[in-house]
Amino acid sequence: MKTQHWFMILVSSFILLSCFSPTMRKIADTKQFLLGVAVRPSDLLDPKDTKLVQDNFNILVPENIMKLQYLRPTETFWNWSDPDKLVQFAEANNMKLRGHTFVWHNQNPPFINNLSDKNKAIQILQDTITQVLTRYNGKFYEYDVCNEVIDDNGVLRNSIWMKTIGPEYIDMAFKTARQADPSVKLILNDYNNDYAGTTKGDAFYKLVKDMVDRKIPIDGVGFQLHVMAEQPINEQALRANIKRFRDLGLSVSFTEVDVRIKLPVTPEKEAAQQKVYLDLLRIAREEQVSCFMLWGYTDAYSWIPGTFAGYGSAHPFDAKKNPKPVFSEMKKLVTSFK
Ligand code: XIL
Repeated sequence: MKTQHWFMILVSSFILLSCFSPTMRKIADTKQFLLGVAVRPSDLLDPKDTKLVQDNFNILVPENIMKLQYLRPTETFWNWSDPDKLVQFAEANNMKLRGHTFVWHNQNPPFINNLSDKNKAIQILQDTITQVLTRYNGKFYEYDVCNEVIDDNGVLRNSIWMKTIGPEYIDMAFKTARQADPSVKLILNDYNNDYAGTTKGDAFYKLVKDMVDRKIPIDGVGFQLHVMAEQPINEQALRANIKRFRDLGLSVSFTEVDVRIKLPVTPEKEAAQQKVYLDLLRIAREEQVSCFMLWGYTDAYSWIPGTFAGYGSAHPFDAKKNPKPVFSEMKKLVTSFK
C-alpha cells in the first residue's frame, strides 16, 4: 500500500477512536463522581464553551451571577434572568447545581454594604435567602449559605453582617435556608480551612462543631482549595480534617479547585501542578467527598492573574480551550476509580 493510504487509515482510526472514547462527563457519571466547574453566562452561549461544559462535567456552580452584587443589585431589583438560564441549562443536561453564595463580605451591592440597622440587616438576609430558595426550590444539590466567615487570624470576620447583626447571623442564615428549602444541602464554605492543625483550619472546625452541637441545620462544609503548584498537598492534614467533619455527620465538598503556577511556566512546575490536581482528585474519591468543583476550566477566563500577581496557568484547559496533559491524567485517574 502507498504511504498515502497508510496515512489515511491512521487518520480515520484516530478520528474513530476519539469519537468512541467516552467523555469525562460520561466517565464521572459511571463512577458516580460529581465533577463540576464554575461557569459564566457566556459558557452557556458560546457553542465551543457549552460543548466543553457538557462533555466534561455533571455539576455546575455560577462563578459570579448569584452573588448579591449581581443577583440583587438594589433592594427591589432582582436579576433572575441569568440564574434562570443556568437552572434550565442544568436541567436540560441532567446536571446538578451548587449555589454560591448568600452571605459573604465580598461582591455585595451598595444597599447591603451601607446597612447599619440590625433589624433591617436581618430582614434583608432572611428575605434574600427565602426568595432564592423559594424560586429554586429543590433545584440545588447544595448551597454555600455563608462564605469566608473566618478571617486569616482565625476569628469571625468583621463583615457587614457581623457588624450589623453580630455573630448570630450565621445561625440565622442556616435556619432561614432550611426553612425555605428542606432538600438542599446547606454548606459553610471557606478558604485555607482545609488542613487540621492550622489556626484557620482549627477555628473553622470549632465553629462548625459548635453549630452541630447546637443543632443548627448545617449539612456540610466546603474547602475552596485555591492552591499553588509549588506547595505539595499535605495529605495527612487534609485527610484528618475531612475525617473530623465526617465524624460530625457532615459532608465535605472541594468547592473551588484551581492550582496556580508562578510564572513563567516550566515543565517542572507543570509536573508539580499535575501532582497537586491528581492528589486532590484521588483524596476526594477515597474520602468520599461530596463533589469536586473546578473554579473555571480554562486559562482564557481565569480569575487568577487579576488576583494573584505573577501567577497563572491554573486550570486544566489552556487559553485556547485545549486540554492540557494534566486533564488527560485526571481523566485516566477518574477512569481508574473503583
Ligand atoms: C471570584 C471570581 O472568580 C471572580 O470572577 C470575581 O471577580 C471575584 O470572585 N472565593 C470565592 C469565589 O468564594 O466567589 C471567588 O470568585 C474566588 C474566591
